[in-house]
Amino acid sequence: RDAPLVLGIETSCDETGIGIVRGRTLLSNTIASSMEEHARYGGVVPEVAARAHLEALVPALTSAVAEAGITLDDLDAIAVTSGPGLSGALMVGVGAAKALAVALDKPIYAVNHLVGHVGADILDESGTPFEYPTIALLVSGGHTSLLLVRDLVGDVELLGETIDDAAGEAFDKVARLLGLAYPGGPEIDRLAALGDPKAIRFPRGLTLPKDMAKHRYDFSFSGLKTSVARWVEKQEDLGNEVPVADVAASFREAVADVLLTKAIAACVDYNVPRLLLGGGVVANARVRSLATERAAAAGVALRIPPLSLCTDNGAMIAELGAQLIMAGHAPSTLDFSADSTLPV
Ligand code: KG4
Ligand code: ZN
Repeated sequence: RDAPLVLGIETSCDETGIGIVRGRTLLSNTIASSMEEHARYGGVVPEVAARAHLEALVPALTSAVAEAGITLDDLDAIAVTSGPGLSGALMVGVGAAKALAVALDKPIYAVNHLVGHVGADILDESGTPFEYPTIALLVSGGHTSLLLVRDLVGDVELLGETIDDAAGEAFDKVARLLGLAYPGGPEIDRLAALGDPKAIRFPRGLTLPKDMAKHRYDFSFSGLKTSVARWVEKQEDLGNEVPVADVAASFREAVADVLLTKAIAACVDYNVPRLLLGGGVVANARVRSLATERAAAAGVALRIPPLSLCTDNGAMIAELGAQLIMAGHAPSTLDFSADSTLPV
């Protein structure tokens, strides 16, 4: 049987992503982002994101179809992110996907956004995609999750996640208190290169022995953010100039350290010598270099797909749909809903 031609729709946060794949092959990956519209608020505003999806969806669909050189009638199925994510944003994608499925009389697959991030690896042609099991560390402005993937379309276990802020959110909040622009991650990353990561020892959330007993694979970044805020306030009270580059470097070091400590612990505990990274924070230079160092030291193979597949996109959703079809899974019935807290 021919490899299935699948259209994927992703609208869980601020990226409107439409992707098209044929089996394991990427045909197009169109992304429109409403990031700039959120800049003045310092974070993603759900209502603004939902409206932006409504405007961007049809143009993105049109260009993805043109780029792939197909017509909608050629499709074998539609896949759509039904959660987790922002409710209103998800509803725009789910509504569009259902309408397309009904109008074209095609099967529809409702898929999980986090599992989609793992599926992105299959589309990365720069090397051989991982076999399973693999550990996946997914880090963005909306999520910070550690997964054990035994089978992409049947056995994915959430090992842990953030109990407060996502790592990208922490970057954005710390950037804001340092007076940097939104999104803060890239700004902090740039400044950190000029600073000393050992200048200030910021706390590593949930890594003390007592925390590791109860929250071994969970993350916490709100204490770190508060600690940075206190440190900066104190310097200002003392009349000292704030060494912004050192703060950025020390903060970035703390985040990268926690992320990789927990991810490598999972690889060791489960005896899984593979670590896959996903999400927008994967752009971070220190997260990448520390991942390379720690993985090598632990004898763990590391995969970091290109950034266009790491950030939210429709191609990873299409690929997960294709994998479901190829594994013989039945499509979803049309009564599924958007679920902001959909479990993996
Ligand atoms: O996956 P993504 O594009 O989408 C959403 O979360 O919606 O991730 C965006 C997040 C933002 O919080 C941004 O500040 C962060 O990823 N980010 C970074 C870097 N580039 C983007 N964080 C740290 N270092 C970076 N270089
Ligand atoms: Zn994501």
